[in-house]
Amino acid sequence: MTRIKVFLLITVFTLSLVQSPAFAQTSNTFDFVPQPAWVQYGNEHPLIGSFTLDKNVKIVGGDPFNVQYLQEHLHRVLDYSGDSWNPCSPGSIEFVRTKSFPEEGYAIEVAGRRILITSTTRAGEFYAIQTLLQMLPPQVYRKVSGPDAMLIRQWEIPALTIVDQPRFAWRGSMFDVSRTFFDKEYILRHLDWLAYHKINKFHWHLTDDNGWRVEIKKYPKLTSVGAWRGYGEALQPSFNSGKERYGGFYTQEDLKEIVAYAADRGIEIIPEVDLPGHSKALAVSYPEVVCRHEADVTSVQGEVHNVLCVGREKNYVMLENIIKELAAIFPSKYFHVGVEEVATESWKHCPDCQALMKKLGYTDEKQLLGYFTERMEKILAKYGKTLEGWEDIVVGENLSRNDLVLVWHRQDMLQKALDAGFPVVTQNCDYLYFDMKQTPAERGHSWASIIDVEKVYSFDPMQGLELKPGEEWKVKGLQGGLWTELLYFPAHFSEYQLFPRLCALAEVGWSPQELRNYADFDARMARTHFERMWNMGIQFRIPAPEVDRNGQVRCPYPNMVVRYTFDGSEPTISSPVVTGPVVTDHPENLRFATFFGDVKSMTVCVPGAQKYLTPAVHVETSLEANSRYPVENLEQYENDKYMRTARAPQKGDYVLFTFDEPLECHRITVQTADPKNNFYGITDGHVEVLFADSDRFGWNGGQDRFDMYNRVSFCPNRPVKAVKIVVDGPGEGKPVSIQHLIIE
Ligand code: ACM
Ligand code: ZN
Repeated sequence: MTRIKVFLLITVFTLSLVQSPAFAQTSNTFDFVPQPAWVQYGNEHPLIGSFTLDKNVKIVGGDPFNVQYLQEHLHRVLDYSGDSWNPCSPGSIEFVRTKSFPEEGYAIEVAGRRILITSTTRAGEFYAIQTLLQMLPPQVYRKVSGPDAMLIRQWEIPALTIVDQPRFAWRGSMFDVSRTFFDKEYILRHLDWLAYHKINKFHWHLTDDNGWRVEIKKYPKLTSVGAWRGYGEALQPSFNSGKERYGGFYTQEDLKEIVAYAADRGIEIIPEVDLPGHSKALAVSYPEVVCRHEADVTSVQGEVHNVLCVGREKNYVMLENIIKELAAIFPSKYFHVGVEEVATESWKHCPDCQALMKKLGYTDEKQLLGYFTERMEKILAKYGKTLEGWEDIVVGENLSRNDLVLVWHRQDMLQKALDAGFPVVTQNCDYLYFDMKQTPAERGHSWASIIDVEKVYSFDPMQGLELKPGEEWKVKGLQGGLWTELLYFPAHFSEYQLFPRLCALAEVGWSPQELRNYADFDARMARTHFERMWNMGIQFRIPAPEVDRNGQVRCPYPNMVVRYTFDGSEPTISSPVVTGPVVTDHPENLRFATFFGDVKSMTVCVPGAQKYLTPAVHVETSLEANSRYPVENLEQYENDKYMRTARAPQKGDYVLFTFDEPLECHRITVQTADPKNNFYGITDGHVEVLFADSDRFGWNGGQDRFDMYNRVSFCPNRPVKAVKIVVDGPGEGKPVSIQHLIIE
């Protein structure tokens, strides 16, 4: 066994953020995120100096909500107890409205005893407050009162002037609550986080194949049936929701509360009801809405019968009733009706759809997509709404060019939508799909790209476009997209996927292109913004430490620490910090993670130290294998070789790994699911072991059920003859993938 020393290459100072340090220092410059358009420190009159904020500060003018919001945040940091501080000349924050600012623009002037905030709209005023909060200690974001609160008597803000406005009018975040359900409280916190980053659109993906999430009073089965999945439910388990009943929905009262909460914070919520594909949850609730045929047409996601029948006139009545209820709740001008990844093949087999095609003289089912979209446009118009849809709506020749196209492919598709005459928003999958992995080893998808924060930051929505002069406004802006297939586990993974990538997006959307500089952004994040997010309660992503083959460890940021364990367990907040040389005979058991307070990176090992065994094994199964992914693949210990079944597993199915010789090892990990996308694992099953000194399969303790990564890991205490995966139920009712054993 190699004997290595583990030591830290860079100096790390430990800043314990759980017990946050007392703060009293004044910054001379501020780490704004997003960077304002124009900031000038100092004052032309040298005698007019910094502003002293204390509990006597007077707030003059201002929108009532904005003032209350500001006060509530000030209360989190200012000490209101004890004697008056400087009662003679209290400072003031004065809000003034003038006509001269662009929508959402504002100016802040800090000089002597006054902070003057000017804007034209209440949104501009709100963003000025966001900028002002970033001049205060990061604890201003911390929702703590009482003894734990960190209170200051005064805080100095240097003289400065800021004149600011956003680059793009549309700075959004799309969030899918169908695949994974997030409750009202989570959505409200999420909206807070968006507002802190000057994000002004929340595109709420409310329905999809895997769950209908909004109460519709006229169609109660949409939520009594369509909001739930599990054994015995109309919707099968999916995306690791397991065999228990899983789901949830928002009542109309919840929706109204959320909409109002967002509006107060300058955020417009655009609801999306994904039609006419992605409609399995609707179809299981009211089966008459899908086409009349038995053909096995599957969508990209492998769903059958998830396409609404466009030839069934009663569907439009139902959709109008749904839209009528939702249009009354969501004040947004736009209403998103989906229109993407529709298995139009379904319409080929349906007598009603075919009859409609004949009547309209259509020759291609794709034309029906245009027809459907145009029908939806007319229904929406009755309720004062403008249609928004994914890029596929561009096929609708007769659509109004006021409709908004949300492009999820690349810039050429954005150009195509612009050329067709539509205004556009980009959610470019190469840069803005936050369900993509951030590095190859992390959880997430990778079909579009690996997207780290720097890649998000590098994006410019205008890149590669050819626009006529004066038509730049047609690119309204951008939004990040978080699809939630892989977010059910682990806890807080949505936050890990969103932040800090959303901080980068915020700056792309807000700051002038010529001011953008990734190194500068990263430095602002490191110095201050991570700490702000920690106070916001976000479990954001921080990079893992870099560990090389010699055990040299590099902490990614100076105000973070690397913690480690010796025994192969996950480092925790109480694990020791790497501060100097560590000597070990078992580098394979070292685990490292970066910590910022209690926020933890993914865990890494010493590369190459892991010794994997590849003993000769014979694998047999009761499950028929897909011929491209045969069971013999599992005998080869190659990561891209796995087995895929040709049918869904049933109770009693098994996969049996028998070793040629009794196997002595430290740990065996049984992995199921597709290694590329983490889908299609065994969710209802367990693992049994046959020891060399026994004649019966059994279990010797530990975890034998599949975890949320569709995996079982155990440490056998004596030689092993065989390992068996035993299926206990149909799980998600789809074919599954099995990977080779990992033996340490
Ligand atoms: C999408 O990713 N299907 C819009
Ligand atoms: Zn049909």
